[in-house]
Amino acid sequence: MLKIYISKATLCLFLSLIRGVFGADADEVKSVSVTERDFVTLNTDVTEVQKTDQILWMFGPQETRIAEIHKQSIDMFDSNETFGDRLKMNRQTGSLTITDITTELSGLYKLTIITSGGTTYKRFSVTVYAPLPVPVISNNTLSSQKPSPDSRCSVLCSVLNVSAVSLSWYKGNSVLSSISVSDLSIRLSLPLEVEDQDNNTYSCVVNNTITNHTTHLDISQTCHTKTPPAAIFLPLLISALVLAGLAAAMYFLYKKHKEKKVDGSKPSTQRLTTAQTEQTDDIEIHYAEATFHLQNKPKNKANGTEEIIYSSVNMIT
Ligand SMILES: *[C@@H]1O[C@H](CO)[C@@H](O)[C@H](O)[C@H]1NC(C)=O
Ligand SMILES: *[C@@H]1O[C@H](CO)[C@@H](O)[C@H](O)[C@H]1NC(C)=O
Ligand SMILES: *[C@@H]1O[C@H](CO)[C@@H](O)[C@H](O)[C@H]1NC(C)=O
Ligand SMILES: *[C@@H]1O[C@H](CO)[C@@H](O)[C@H](O)[C@H]1NC(C)=O
Ligand SMILES: *[C@@H]1O[C@H](CO)[C@@H](O)[C@H](O)[C@H]1NC(C)=O
Ligand SMILES: *[C@@H]1O[C@H](CO)[C@@H](O)[C@H](O)[C@H]1NC(C)=O
Repeated sequence: MLKIYISKATLCLFLSLIRGVFGADADEVKSVSVTERDFVTLNTDVTEVQKTDQILWMFGPQETRIAEIHKQSIDMFDSNETFGDRLKMNRQTGSLTITDITTELSGLYKLTIITSGGTTYKRFSVTVYAPLPVPVISNNTLSSQKPSPDSRCSVLCSVLNVSAVSLSWYKGNSVLSSISVSDLSIRLSLPLEVEDQDNNTYSCVVNNTITNHTTHLDISQTCHTKTPPAAIFLPLLISALVLAGLAAAMYFLYKKHKEKKVDGSKPSTQRLTTAQTEQTDDIEIHYAEATFHLQNKPKNKANGTEEIIYSSVNMIT
């Protein structure tokens, strides 16, 4: 008889232990998301640690002790080996703050609070996300492809090196299309077809659970600018160089003329030289302008590509 009673009590105790363990495992795992370099605070929800309270934090699969308050004194163990000086424990609440967090500090943080009222367990599953890149919108029309008569423009929104993100096209406030990845994606892209004359607002948004970044589509920028193929702007570059050479030659010749004029001969260059005798610098500027105008000639021939030719000249300088 007595034996049965004992085993019943043991069973009861055993069951309550099981429940306690289950409670800690199943009910109290809190997911926390944070962006790399940011900080996060894991709250004990204790308002004031009492003299006899013990609060213990453990981290990782090895359940390494990283911080403890016991008898009102704080012990950080060897946490500096993993956390450096980025781990702080609040003396009043026992809450843990991790600053300048890195992806290596992702994982499970276990909390044990022992008070006179009993023992509670909490778990925090911390996920550290890489900072989100800003989406890049590019022209997706093949350069070999003839511009279609209905002036449709194909654009592509891309983000590089992302994981656990969604990439979406918005028209105003409504989602047109969306793509999601959970694993690391080297390049995530989403296309969109728009009319050249479309005056709706399109934007491409990348987001994870924490944050998002938006890039707006500028149709006139993305669809109308035509980069001249190398076949067009290489000859232009060559002719520019030739013209520069010509200018140098002209300047050289002019200088020779000027020297002659000093000798008293050749009055035909009189007008030009009197205008600019004092400053040889002015003469140089004058010739620079001359070459500039000559460069404009082939530019006007290649119709509608003015801006790009300028920018290609800029690239050279
Ligand atoms: C951690 O701190 C201890 C004592 O403050 C020090 O001796 C040790 O070098 C530190 N370790 C690291 C990796 O900073
Ligand atoms: C950009 O898109 C337009 C169509 O709107 C196309 O005609 C043009 O060739 C594209 N430019 C490039 C560099 O792909
Ligand atoms: C993408 O990640 C790889 C390695 O993870 C890195 O070498 C590369 O520079 C990254 N590219 C960008 C654009 O961040
Ligand atoms: C992106 O945001 C939407 C809500 O705007 C959300 O449903 C989705 O889960 C988020 N994507 C990721 C990868 O978190
Ligand atoms: C949008 O563009 C069309 C031409 O494609 C024009 O008729 C219309 O007035 C524009 N709407 C707005 C709101 O600007
Ligand atoms: C982007 O994040 C902001 C808050 O930072 C939120 O208000 C907005 O709805 C988010 N946009 C999308 C498209 O998820």
